[in-house]
Amino acid sequence: MRNTIPFLIVLLVELSILRVVSLCSTYPPQVDLSIQNRTSINKSDFPNTNVRTVNLSYNLISNLSSDTFSSVIFVQNLDLSHNWITELSGDLLSPFVRLSCLHISNNRLEELPETFLENKVYLEKLDLSHNNLRSIPERFFHRNLQHLIVVDLSWNHLVTYQPWPLLLRTSVHFDLSYNKISTTSHNLSEMTFTNLHEFGYDITMNLQFNNFTQWNEFFYKDLFGVDINDTAKPIYSIPDLRNNNWTCDCNFYNRVSAMHKSFYLYSKTDYLKIKCYNPPHLRDKRVFYDVALNEFVCNLTSIDNCLVQDIPNMNTVYVDCRRRGLTTMPKSLPLPDGRKLSLNFHGNSIRSLDSVEYAEKIESLNLSNNALQFIDGNALRRMNNVIKELDLRQNSLKYLPKEINVLPFEKTHVEDNPLSCDCNMTWMADWVNLAPGYRDKSVQCTEVNGDRHLIKELTERLLNCTNDILIAVSVSLGILLVIIIIIVITVKRCPYETKVILFKIFRIHPRDKYVVDNNDHDMDNDAYISYDAKDFHVQQWTREVLVKKLEGKKPFFKLFVPERNIGVGPEAELRAEAMEKSKRIIILLSAHYSEQDWCAFESNAAESMSENKGRVLYILYDNKAVDISKHEPWQSRMNERRVLWLDDRLFWSKLRYELPLKSRVQIQNM
Ligand SMILES: *[C@@H]1O[C@H](CO)[C@@H](O)[C@H](O)[C@H]1NC(C)=O
Ligand SMILES: *[C@@H]1O[C@H](CO)[C@@H](O)[C@H](O)[C@H]1NC(C)=O
Ligand SMILES: *[C@@H]1O[C@H](CO)[C@@H](O)[C@H](O)[C@H]1NC(C)=O
Ligand SMILES: *[C@@H]1O[C@H](CO)[C@@H](O)[C@H](O)[C@H]1NC(C)=O
Ligand SMILES: *[C@@H]1O[C@H](CO)[C@@H](O)[C@H](O)[C@H]1NC(C)=O
Ligand SMILES: *[C@@H]1O[C@H](CO)[C@@H](O)[C@H](O)[C@H]1NC(C)=O
Ligand SMILES: *[C@@H]1O[C@H](CO)[C@@H](O)[C@H](O)[C@H]1NC(C)=O
Ligand SMILES: *[C@@H]1O[C@H](CO)[C@@H](O)[C@H](O)[C@H]1NC(C)=O
Ligand SMILES: *[C@@H]1O[C@H](CO)[C@@H](O)[C@H](O)[C@H]1NC(C)=O
Ligand SMILES: *[C@@H]1O[C@H](CO)[C@@H](O)[C@H](O)[C@H]1NC(C)=O
Ligand SMILES: *[C@@H]1O[C@H](CO)[C@@H](O)[C@H](O)[C@H]1NC(C)=O
Repeated sequence: MRNTIPFLIVLLVELSILRVVSLCSTYPPQVDLSIQNRTSINKSDFPNTNVRTVNLSYNLISNLSSDTFSSVIFVQNLDLSHNWITELSGDLLSPFVRLSCLHISNNRLEELPETFLENKVYLEKLDLSHNNLRSIPERFFHRNLQHLIVVDLSWNHLVTYQPWPLLLRTSVHFDLSYNKISTTSHNLSEMTFTNLHEFGYDITMNLQFNNFTQWNEFFYKDLFGVDINDTAKPIYSIPDLRNNNWTCDCNFYNRVSAMHKSFYLYSKTDYLKIKCYNPPHLRDKRVFYDVALNEFVCNLTSIDNCLVQDIPNMNTVYVDCRRRGLTTMPKSLPLPDGRKLSLNFHGNSIRSLDSVEYAEKIESLNLSNNALQFIDGNALRRMNNVIKELDLRQNSLKYLPKEINVLPFEKTHVEDNPLSCDCNMTWMADWVNLAPGYRDKSVQCTEVNGDRHLIKELTERLLNCTNDILIAVSVSLGILLVIIIIIVITVKRCPYETKVILFKIFRIHPRDKYVVDNNDHDMDNDAYISYDAKDFHVQQWTREVLVKKLEGKKPFFKLFVPERNIGVGPEAELRAEAMEKSKRIIILLSAHYSEQDWCAFESNAAESMSENKGRVLYILYDNKAVDISKHEPWQSRMNERRVLWLDDRLFWSKLRYELPLKSRVQIQNM
């Protein structure tokens, strides 16, 4: 059914063209007064009251009154073309009872009386072309014109298109070419858009050679008679909008992308082959066929001489400020709703990456070849959720704030900076090492004495940072008193942390008793690790950090890592069984945890386990996990459970504290 519609359109269009040809013959008897230089006409010109055709064309008539025609009421074809008429009286046609063809082309009409076509229900053809009409009165066309087939309004000065053809409810050919139309509107009082086309009228509209330039989505309803979001209703007419000087910019984007998804694109009509006129590089390309969606862009107001371009297809505003002599990042940028920013500031003299007002929207930031010395950690924190790429090459950076790990190392470029091998930079080793193998990890830093090191090999021992700590300890003896006071306060305010520290230092375990540790079940595993194995970084961290620390150092714990330990058999059952046999279930929550089927399975199973108080504990992997944990279902799941942050300084101590006290000492290697 759907596929037949384009063919229907083509068929109907062809039929209507055939029909137009046979209209308005010269019905006898006729009064032909054409080409006589007459300036006026009166009753006595019509001795025969039975005439069907009156031809007054090619005269010098400027004024006509209805009295003139009061005796010739059966006229069907009236030709007033090529005269000097500037005005029509509203009742001029009132004598005629069967008028079907009316020609008033090539006159000097500037406006039309609203009631001119009242009661002219037999009218089939109306020719008003080659006049000076600027507008059509609201009630000029009306629903009772049920036989109207051809309306010619070409070569006038109309500026606004109203959905007159849709109002008529007949199959009509409307010619509006060679006007000055640049916009549409639909304030016709009789007009309602509901149930248009319910009988499948076939309408053609010629809107060629008008003043249309910029597409506006509200044109659609006026021109096609269908609500823009109503994709179910078929369109019976496609207006001919060719030969207008269309601008192919972001305003066209929605229409073109909708058209690309629609089968109308493949209908054989030529009306869809409208062409771009601007911008010059797209001139004469066909809007719906030849222009890529990424090319529908708008230049937004320019800032600091930069190119600021809205690219709706990428949902991005691209800002090209390369080599513009900037010393700071622009304070603000124009940003249409929901768009993200892609910024290229390459080759300027920007000295610091500041926490600008649009930081949250930056998806890609290129600051290469600048004079950067300082990066505001707060700016990076604000970019956290959106940023995908950051280029800081060829700058003067000595230190990077730790917040830079909102982005993985493989998406960040820090080469060609005088990075300093300082004790507060050792965290970078982990950041670099967690990147996948294809990424070049040879980035280096320089010590005060000139030694260079690969950052991925930095350790505190390599940089002799431990000395600093010794000095710090001896100094701190002097302020022991202060520490004691702090401890007292800490014990009061953070009882849990205190217990953890006591356990860490003195092995005293003032454990909150968990039922699961008291029973005699045969529990093989100390802990079951539930994590997103599809996330490369999480997987690396679990394998290289978590498992190594817990299984490789005293007291040795026995972990069940599904990807490593699962046996052969039905996987769901094996996982459930392993969880039952684990004293603890550790849920390592990361950005895409809940999207993984096994993770969802495991976290649900953990919830429904018996004796699960103290048995289920959560680790929040990163800032995104912290965000997720604030939403349901995690918020209620974490209620009354132990939740550990990876960034917590006491993380490992807390984790050990939470794990079962006695452990079977048996280690499997990875
Ligand atoms: C009409 O006027 C034109 C110009 O004055 C003249 O050439 C032409 O012969 C006239 N036609 C008639 C039918 O009088
Ligand atoms: C009607 O027109 C004819 C020819 O132009 C003229 O002789 C006659 O006087 C006119 N009659 C009236 C009532 O205007
Ligand atoms: C009226 O006369 C003109 C000139 O003779 C002619 O071109 C035109 O077709 C005629 N109109 C009708 C309706 O016959
Ligand atoms: C046209 O005719 C009407 C009445 O016959 C008259 O009032 C009016 O002044 C005329 N207009 C012109 C421009 O001759
Ligand atoms: C309808 O729209 C036209 C053109 O936009 C305007 O001139 C006219 O005043 C409007 N009419 C009403 C009733 O709003
Ligand atoms: C398109 O622009 C050209 C050059 O400005 C002009 O000559 C032409 O008339 C315009 N076409 C339309 C349909 O406006
Ligand atoms: C055509 O449209 C442009 C802007 O869209 C306008 O500046 C120009 O005046 C219009 N031309 C006419 C003849 O209306
Ligand atoms: C069409 O849908 C879009 C997006 O769903 C919406 O923003 C717009 O307002 C809708 N337009 C109409 C006329 O309902
Ligand atoms: C936007 O500006 C650029 C550079 O000034 C220019 O090359 C391009 O043609 C402009 N694009 C549009 C759609 O105006
Ligand atoms: C940053 O911009 C420069 C200059 O345009 C380019 O060479 C470099 O590849 C860009 N960086 C990234 C990560 O695309
Ligand atoms: C690291 O320490 C140096 C001094 O040794 C200091 O200038 C710098 O700001 C510190 N960097 C960070 C990120 O803390």
